[in-house]
Amino acid sequence: MAKITAAITGVQGFVPDYILTNKELENLVETTDEWISSRTGIKERRILKGDGQGSSVMAVGAILPLLEKTNTKPEEIDLIICATVTPDMVFPATANIIGAEIGAINAFGYDLNAACSGFLYAIATGSQFIETGKYKKVLVVGVDKMSSIIDYTDRATCIIFGDGAGAVMLEPNNEGLGIQDFILKSDGTGMQYLHQKAGGSRKPASMETVQNKEHYVYQEGAAVFKFAVTNMADAAAQIMQKNNLKSEDVAWLVPHQANKRIIDATANRMGLDSSRVMLNIDHFGNTTNGTIPLCLWEYESQLNKGDNIVLAAFGGGFTWGALYLKWAY
Ligand code: UT7
Repeated sequence: MAKITAAITGVQGFVPDYILTNKELENLVETTDEWISSRTGIKERRILKGDGQGSSVMAVGAILPLLEKTNTKPEEIDLIICATVTPDMVFPATANIIGAEIGAINAFGYDLNAACSGFLYAIATGSQFIETGKYKKVLVVGVDKMSSIIDYTDRATCIIFGDGAGAVMLEPNNEGLGIQDFILKSDGTGMQYLHQKAGGSRKPASMETVQNKEHYVYQEGAAVFKFAVTNMADAAAQIMQKNNLKSEDVAWLVPHQANKRIIDATANRMGLDSSRVMLNIDHFGNTTNGTIPLCLWEYESQLNKGDNIVLAAFGGGFTWGALYLKWAY
């Protein structure tokens, strides 16, 4: 019997309407459009406004049209994996909130936290449930409302992040298409450079933690940059080598969108020119778990069945990795 592979059978994104431009940020912090553009590649990002609007709102915004596109009834979904660092609540899992919203009454679900590498970890994880033959329809969504944990008086972080969601459907494939291989890595010693100090069990929320702004993203950008630029490129090169892929065999690199300079370094290492690199950092910024599926969504019409695609990410933790898939439609 042919091996069952797990393939992406549809992709959909959702971004909120509000556009936060570099120009507007110039009024909030001491920065310039020129600095942000040249150091990061970001021009604008989307922000989810309104009370009581959590990450699940954007996840559902991506998933409902995805179900339509893939001709899926909510009750057919077996599993929902939500990759996020900004869950609606600490518990229950945002995946469960999403399941209830979309009527996935037969699904189980859980959240997965691997910071900016979360979507990569989540499709790798989700693919296992399909390859064993146990489940048929796995929804994987990468979503973050980064604006909920960003200090808009800190110019080092507020210029980078944006809000958004992207979702894919994973289903069994018997033509050998879909996810072929992945390399996933983590190193907790990187915690010191990128974390959120308070609001967890180590330092629960208090008046003091709020006053000290400890519920916001803390990042030592230059240190993270150094690790990101080498590790993301290494993982992408390793997955190519492991699978005997030459530069000309790779149709697309789908990189996490943290900084255009990190993306360029990874593409260079793989021997790819910019025409084969998916980008959305200029108009969405760093949407954390949303970056990769949002790229796939915007480039979907340019993809062909059988295309070799390499996904690569680096994020807090540290976490990083690369995944090789063959596009299935
Ligand atoms: O997605 C999760 C993983 N995260 C990443 O991969 C992010 C990796 N890091 C980066 O992308 C970059 O480090 C940043 C974009 C965050 C920062 O760029 P950088 O070139 O590493 O800048 P820096 O932090 O080394 O700061 C250089 C200078 C500093 O001024 P001095 O000390 O040289 O006078 C900063 O104060 O730039 C200053 N600076 C700014 N200036 C204008 C920092 N932020 C800004 C700003 N506008 N927004």
